Amino acid sequence: MEITELLKKMTLRQKIGQLTQYNARLFLNDDSYITGPDKKLNLSEEDIMLTGSVLNFFSAGDMKKIQKKHLENDPLGIPVIFMLDVIHGYRTIYPIPLGLSCSFDPELAKSCASMAAKEAAASGVQVTFAPMADYVRDARWGRIMESGGEEPLLSGMMAAAQVRGFQGEDLKDNEKLAACVKHFAAYGASESGRDYNQAECSVRELYDYYLPAYKAAIDAGAKLVMPAFQSLNGVPATINPFLYKVLRGEWGFDGVVISDYNAIGELIKHGVAENEKEAAAKAFSCECDMEMCSATYIHYLEELINEGVVSEKQLDKAVYRVLELKKELGLFEDPYHGADEEKAEKLYLCEEHRKLSRAAAENSAVLLKNDGVLPFDKNIGSVAIIGPFADEHGINGFWSCAGKNEDTVTVREGIEALLGRGRVLCAKGCGCEWDDKDKSGFDEAVALARRADAVVPCLGEPQNYSGEGNCRTDLRLPGVQEELAALIASANPNTAAVIFNGRPLVLSAIDECIPAILDMWFPGTEGGNAAARLLFGQANPCAKLAVSFPRSTGQVPVYYNHTMTARPHFTEKPEHKGYTSDYIDCGNLPLYSFGHGLSYSRFEYIQMTLSGTELKEDGAITVSVNIRNASDIDGSEVVCLYMRDPVASVVRPVQQLVAFEKISVKAGETAKAVLEVTGEAVKFTDGEGNRIFEKGEIVLMVGCPGAYLLKESIKAV
Ligand code: GLC
Repeated sequence: MEITELLKKMTLRQKIGQLTQYNARLFLNDDSYITGPDKKLNLSEEDIMLTGSVLNFFSAGDMKKIQKKHLENDPLGIPVIFMLDVIHGYRTIYPIPLGLSCSFDPELAKSCASMAAKEAAASGVQVTFAPMADYVRDARWGRIMESGGEEPLLSGMMAAAQVRGFQGEDLKDNEKLAACVKHFAAYGASESGRDYNQAECSVRELYDYYLPAYKAAIDAGAKLVMPAFQSLNGVPATINPFLYKVLRGEWGFDGVVISDYNAIGELIKHGVAENEKEAAAKAFSCECDMEMCSATYIHYLEELINEGVVSEKQLDKAVYRVLELKKELGLFEDPYHGADEEKAEKLYLCEEHRKLSRAAAENSAVLLKNDGVLPFDKNIGSVAIIGPFADEHGINGFWSCAGKNEDTVTVREGIEALLGRGRVLCAKGCGCEWDDKDKSGFDEAVALARRADAVVPCLGEPQNYSGEGNCRTDLRLPGVQEELAALIASANPNTAAVIFNGRPLVLSAIDECIPAILDMWFPGTEGGNAAARLLFGQANPCAKLAVSFPRSTGQVPVYYNHTMTARPHFTEKPEHKGYTSDYIDCGNLPLYSFGHGLSYSRFEYIQMTLSGTELKEDGAITVSVNIRNASDIDGSEVVCLYMRDPVASVVRPVQQLVAFEKISVKAGETAKAVLEVTGEAVKFTDGEGNRIFEKGEIVLMVGCPGAYLLKESIKAV
């Protein structure tokens, strides 16, 4: 298919139709396109038939029905392109991206994305609105669950890995999807952690923190970009000239930019467009190619072209991008791109996919604390599983696509599968809603805790307390869970808590009374089996936090790569002396830092050797780190190399990750991690937006922020 030839045959309306995307429901019921929630779009039947893209459908059958009807009515035979939020699995669900990021395992993320693509493509999906590459420091923001966390390097590597997993080598492969990186840009900086709220970011913060992960995804080949809902420095991202200058100008991205849901229509709400016509003019002039679920383009672009506000040349450029994407996916040859109900049903929850989901959950779970309680002995007499998540199926997390709660394995089911039903006691004890103060279940729960040989409080926040639009002002465990945990801990010291969460929670009260804490995030389909295997030592925790956990909500945002300030006083306890950058009523270090995570093995950092001590701008220094597993348990360790630039022309973070490698080390053996620090890695952005390499000392550290084990100095020359 020669796109330029096809463009010549298209009418203006046909071209504009290619830039529109609406909900599948408009196409599935004969009369629904002019009734129901989409009525406000005022779409005619012709508008619907001209539509170039559809989203939010959940079966190959529906997709085929829409495609077939469309092709029967389109004289040019231009196929519809089908898009969906396949964020962390299609039907077999793996951990939320924030959890998966804690694995520090891009290859694992790639494998998970590849699995999701297989199930999704068989179900009719051709484009996924993922990876989400928003840099986030504020745990109040519900969408932190979709992110890669507070470290730009890690977040970018995980986003790039997802792109490679979704897209593979050839988009014509019927088991691959085109990836749409989102939300460009700095959505994670929404003020007060309130969704859709304004973001104000300096050029320095943008280039050094908020932009890198999007660029990593684009460099990995992401085919689409979705601008964010919120305003950035006073201009909504959808029409932000600075962002398009970076995206199209500096980064040379020439793929499809698709608005977020109704984001163009919402420019009126933002107060930057008088009406839909102005909204269309502003968005289109920025080269926002496609409009998702608002109808300004279909209603006004023709008029704007006739008035000379935008040109048909600009229109052709946008339509070319969309047709090029359809061509890359092979849709002109195979408009169904492998959609196959039978194949999809065979793939959903198959043993191979469940196995990968379980491995992902095991490698994402972070052992936050372990005062010798874990792993439990498999031959234990009885175990009491207590709490709102003891037997809870709602552990897929937000954005779990076609995943179903009933598909998941609960903690109770996982432990019963491991130990047998006879030795497992279970009580809910209390709820997990923020206003649920009912303690009537406490007595039963505490009685079980007393009786059992070991206790597993399963606590957390409901899966709909994070995700889009779901933000919190109090990050503690909702309801009366903290009280329940304290009673259980005093009833039985052999207690290990399992936490289910979509964000860093304030676990200070739990940390004070519970001797072991395993954070599962929202682990997905196999969560209960993964938790059971980790608790009883069939799997060895190896994840490290991709985001810091605050001591109190008042600390937020609290993150590891902060600057020193002129009056530093970093404490765990409230030790306020006055005239220092800390708090009167709380320590200013997080409860658990980025990079923190325990194992059942005991790793000793023996030696750090450098290939040199002078680092040129275009050079690199190899850092080898010898690690010994001083325990009798085989394990894996994420070896992280951090740097600090003690003196520079702008304030620099007290530490920043420059490289990491996950290595397996057998019991009693030694292994080597080989890492690299490059001249590029020590560059930074100054106040004017210049990317600079400055000569001077750079300190390299290995271990965990706040507890470095090895340090060496080099010189940037
Ligand atoms: C939502 C989200 C975006 C998603 C899109 C389509 O509002 O902001 O992440 O991809 O709409 O569902």
